[in-house]
Amino acid sequence: MRTLILAIAALALTGSTAFADPIADRKALMKERGKLVGTLAPMVKGEKPFDAAVATDALKGLSENAQKFDADVLFPAGSETGGETAALPAIWQDMPAFKAAAEKFRVDVAAAVAANPQDLDALKTQFNAVTTNCGACHEKFRMKKE
Ligand code: HEC
Repeated sequence: MRTLILAIAALALTGSTAFADPIADRKALMKERGKLVGTLAPMVKGEKPFDAAVATDALKGLSENAQKFDADVLFPAGSETGGETAALPAIWQDMPAFKAAAEKFRVDVAAAVAANPQDLDALKTQFNAVTTNCGACHEKFRMKKE
């Protein structure tokens, strides 16, 4: 019994610390996306030589990132405000559409990993399919920068 109570207490503790700040958590995940896209973009633009291993790592990173994206946890009711956030009220007004956008991103990134691009043209195709999602979601659900 004692062990069970301790286990539950420990679980509650990790839960609350991990999700204490959904605004910070979602921004951190987005920042990581930006970094990973920043690894791929110079290759796609021809500013850096194509490197299949680096491309695969970045796509896998994006895929893992997408899997960690849980709208219920990262965008709970009430987190429209209470910190520096660029999230638009549209998210909470149309949560199903927001979740659908997140799901489409997850599916497209998984497809890019499965496609396993081995040359620049193949990478370009996957890169475009994946990054279209960033702009599409930001357009509807993120505040424009001044
Ligand atoms: C399902 C919607 C959605 C998708 C898909 C999406 N984003 Fe975002 N992104 C957001 C929202 C909402 C914010 C604002 C979060 C906040 O400020 O609370 C954001 C913020 C950001 C930020 C700013 C983070 C910060 O530090 O304030 C970056 C960078 C970013 N996204 C990059 C990307 C990239 C790159 C992709 C594609 C690979 C992407 N996002 C895909 C919804 C999305």
